[in-house]
Amino acid sequence: MQWTTAERYTRIEETTKEELQQLAEQVNACPWRQTYHIQPETGLLNDPNGFSFYNGEYHLFYQWFPLGPVHGIKYWYHTKSKNLINWENAGVAIRPNDDIDSHGAYSGSGIEHNGNLYLMYTGNTRDENWVRHPKQNIAVMNKEGIIEKWPLPVIDQVPDGYTDHFRDPKVWKENNMFYAVIGAQRTDKTGCVVLYSSPDMRDWTFEGEIQTDLPDFGYMWECPDYFIVNGQGVLAFSPQGIAPDGDNYHNIYQSGYVLGKLDVKTKTFTHSFFQELDRGFDFYAPQSMEAPDGRRIMVGWMGLPEVDYPTDQHGWAHCLTLPREITVENGKLMQRPVRELTEKRGTRMEAKAVLKNETKTFESFSGTSYELISEFNQIDAESFGMEIRVSETEKTILMYDAVQKKVVLDRTNSGAPSGTKYGTVRKCFLDAEQVKFHIFVDTSSIEVFVNDGEEVFTSRIFPRENSTGIRFFANGGSVSCHAVKWTIGG
Ligand code: FRU
Repeated sequence: MQWTTAERYTRIEETTKEELQQLAEQVNACPWRQTYHIQPETGLLNDPNGFSFYNGEYHLFYQWFPLGPVHGIKYWYHTKSKNLINWENAGVAIRPNDDIDSHGAYSGSGIEHNGNLYLMYTGNTRDENWVRHPKQNIAVMNKEGIIEKWPLPVIDQVPDGYTDHFRDPKVWKENNMFYAVIGAQRTDKTGCVVLYSSPDMRDWTFEGEIQTDLPDFGYMWECPDYFIVNGQGVLAFSPQGIAPDGDNYHNIYQSGYVLGKLDVKTKTFTHSFFQELDRGFDFYAPQSMEAPDGRRIMVGWMGLPEVDYPTDQHGWAHCLTLPREITVENGKLMQRPVRELTEKRGTRMEAKAVLKNETKTFESFSGTSYELISEFNQIDAESFGMEIRVSETEKTILMYDAVQKKVVLDRTNSGAPSGTKYGTVRKCFLDAEQVKFHIFVDTSSIEVFVNDGEEVFTSRIFPRENSTGIRFFANGGSVSCHAVKWTIGG
C-alpha cells in the first residue's frame, strides 16, 4: 500500500463523514480487533502521550493518524478511565492545524498545574524546503475537558549542538520546579537526552544535556521518561540504531532504561547498564505516570515504526499495552500488570498436572481472549511451557529452556506474519527454580509477565479466529504444572 505525501498529510477535517464511516466499517470487519486493549477506531495509533491522573480520572492520549495504517499527520487522541482498565474514547485532543504544529502534534506528556492539565508536546513543523523545525508547545485542558493550545511555542528553537530530531518532552515536578527531558540527536548523529527547567510551565531554560555513560549509543533517543520509584531514579528512553547483541536488541528499535540517580544541578546521571524494558516483538515508546496512591504505572505502544502489520489491509494498525506497575526491588526493575485488571476476570478454570515428555490439553482451556497464570515447579524437564492460539496449523509457543536457562517466545507459526525480517523468536536469560507465566491474551496480542514481573514479553500475533487451543508440554523429563485461567473482556 503506497501512500503519497499528499495523502499522508490529509487532515481528518478534510474528509467527509461518509469516507470515515466507510473506513470504520472496514476496520470493524477486521478479525483482529482487540477486545480489551486501547486501539484506534480507524487508522494508526502509536505512542502513548499525556498519561496522567487529573480531576478524578486517568487520562491517556495517543499519537493518531486517523485515515489509514500509515504514519501520516499526527493528532493526539484522548481516552479516559476511572480505574485504568475500562477506557472511554473522548475524541481528538490536539489537532495539528496551526503554525506551531502544522506537520503533526508529536509526542509529549501531561502534568497538573493550577487546577488544569498541562499537555506539553512537540509541534512538528516543516518549512517550504521541507526542513523540519520542532517546537515544544503547551495545550491546557480544564475540568470540563476543553483543551486549548497556547498560540506560541514555549521552546521555539533547537539549542546549538543538536539536529532537528528534538522531541517528546516528558515533564515532572521536583522542589517546586518543573523539569522536562527531551529526546535529541547531537549534530554528530548520536542520541541523547536534554534537560529543561521552568518555574511555571511557561518560561523554559535549557539546562543542558544529561551526562550518561552512554555517549555513543544509537543515533536518536526518542520518548525519554524520568521518574523515581522506591528511591531509585529511572531514565527510560527508546534509542534508535542499536545493533542486535546476543538475545538483545532484535526489534527495529529498542526501549529500555538505566537505573541510577539524576542530579538536576550537574545534569549527571550515574547509572547501571542499559536494559530492555520488554523482551517481546512489539513494544516501543512507553510512558509512565504516578497514580494517586503513589504507584508508578507504565503503558507502551504495542507496535514499532517501519514494520508492516497484517491489520494494515483492514485500515488500522496497533494498540497500547495494558498498564503495568513498575517497582524497583533488589536493584532490579519489576513490571506487573496493574491489580485493577483482576476486576476484568470472568469465568475461572483451574487445572493441575505433572507433565512428562508429553503435550497435554485441559478440559475447557481454550479461547481468544483471556488471562492465564501457569506455575511450573519440580523442574526436571529440559524444556516446558505452553502453546496458545493453537489449531492444526498455528500455535504460539511460550517456554522455558531449563538447559540454557532462557525464556523463549516463538511466533514462527502464530498466524499472519509481521516483522519476520527481524526474526520470529525472542529469548532472554532467566535463572529460576520455578517459572510463572502470567499471560494476557487478546484477539491479536499476548503479554507475558514472567516470575512476577522479572521479565515481560509483549507481542502482537495474528492467528485465525479458530486457533483457540491451549496446550501444556514438557520435553526431556517432567515438570509439575498448575494453571488458572479466567475469561476476560466479555
Ligand atoms: C516515536 C515517535 C516520537 C514522535 C512520534 C511521532 O514513535 O517517532 O519520537 O514524537 O513518534 O508520531
